[in-house]
Amino acid sequence: MATHKLLLLAGDGIGPEVMEEVKRVIAWLEKAGLASFAIEEGLVGGAAYDAHGASISEADMALAKAADAVIFGAVGGPKWADVGYDVRPEAGLLRLRKDLELFANLRPAICYPALAEASSLKPEVVEGLDILIVRELTGGVYFGEPKTITDLGNGQKRAIDTQVYDTFEIERIAAVAFELARTRRNKVTSSEKHNVMKSGVLWKEVVTQLHARAYKDVELDHQLADSLAMQLVRWPKQYDVIVTDNLFGDILSDLAAMLTGSIGMLPSASLGAADAAGRRASMYEPVHGSAPDIAGKGIANPIAMIGSLAMALRYSLGQGEVADRIEKAIAAVLDAGKRTADIAPKGTPSISTSAMGTAIVEALDAGA
Ligand code: NAD
Ligand code: IPM
Ligand code: MN
Repeated sequence: MATHKLLLLAGDGIGPEVMEEVKRVIAWLEKAGLASFAIEEGLVGGAAYDAHGASISEADMALAKAADAVIFGAVGGPKWADVGYDVRPEAGLLRLRKDLELFANLRPAICYPALAEASSLKPEVVEGLDILIVRELTGGVYFGEPKTITDLGNGQKRAIDTQVYDTFEIERIAAVAFELARTRRNKVTSSEKHNVMKSGVLWKEVVTQLHARAYKDVELDHQLADSLAMQLVRWPKQYDVIVTDNLFGDILSDLAAMLTGSIGMLPSASLGAADAAGRRASMYEPVHGSAPDIAGKGIANPIAMIGSLAMALRYSLGQGEVADRIEKAIAAVLDAGKRTADIAPKGTPSISTSAMGTAIVEALDAGA
């Protein structure tokens, strides 16, 4: 059996709390003989800043590049509010994405049947929901230059962020969306704001041309990002795959998280391009952040983090059937009524992070 080289970067806040539960799932998979791992651990975010004065060390960057997959918790928090912009915790995450060229971020929003009642929307709006947001992750306004704050000398300052997209960046993320749509319900919605942004004009043009050239069998439509936000709340089940830029994808995926009951439910995969041997860099992380408001309380939902390990098994480690087992175990635990506080109806009892981890491992054990 192949041994998978994983780098675990737990990060800050609830990151280490939910990563603990991933470690327990990893230990169970090894004990059950279902997978074999060589695990390294590193520091990222505020934890790395405290140790090295940088949000990720060169040594940990090298480990990330050598790993079959990076499993990432979360970074950030009020403790580091005043550190320099370049060494802020989030810079470590952005560097990993950029240096590993993880341009394709898959954020599936699936409403587990048992959680239709946990969403803030009516159950019939979200029941059976299964959409996939494909977010461009290494371009756009996150990385465009210039990115500056200048003193204008008259008591005013000017801040500039730059949205930049080249044809190849749009083409490669759209290709990922079309390919994935073919494995699902064969429909792609491309979203931008071509009515106000030049990058939106190019985005729409490139996606349209690629579709005509190579993906005519996939249904394609275009929707302005503001209108998409509205439609996602009105009737989200009309969508299959949504492809969009870095910033819109960030915002729309947090919105989509609430359709599933909680942001504590949404895993993600960040993928690079495959090389000649079919190997590609990858990182797996929950969509949520370090949740400073609940950090240290032991109540964070570990499902997004454990679901991210399942995505790693499916997309990078060639063990899709093991990923299915983990997702089935999560569904069984939810069916059995186990709830962390974020997905428990108001006034009903909830369980801790580690009790949820235990329940998932027990469900795996029971062959769920
Ligand atoms: P957040 O996602 O950390 O928290 C938003 C809300 O969701 C909070 O009320 C939090 O308690 C809740 N929440 C999040 N994850 C949860 C979980 N697993 N279980 C239960 N409840 C959960 O977003 P924020 O508060 O805007 O950001 C906090 C910090 O995290 C900031 O520094 C931000 O930059 C950072 N951040 C990091 C990542 C990442 O590392 N990938 C992602 C988003 C935000
Ligand atoms: C996410 C986060 C990050 C982003 C931050 C922490 C840099 O919000 O992964 O969704 O904006 O991409
Ligand atoms: Mn985000």
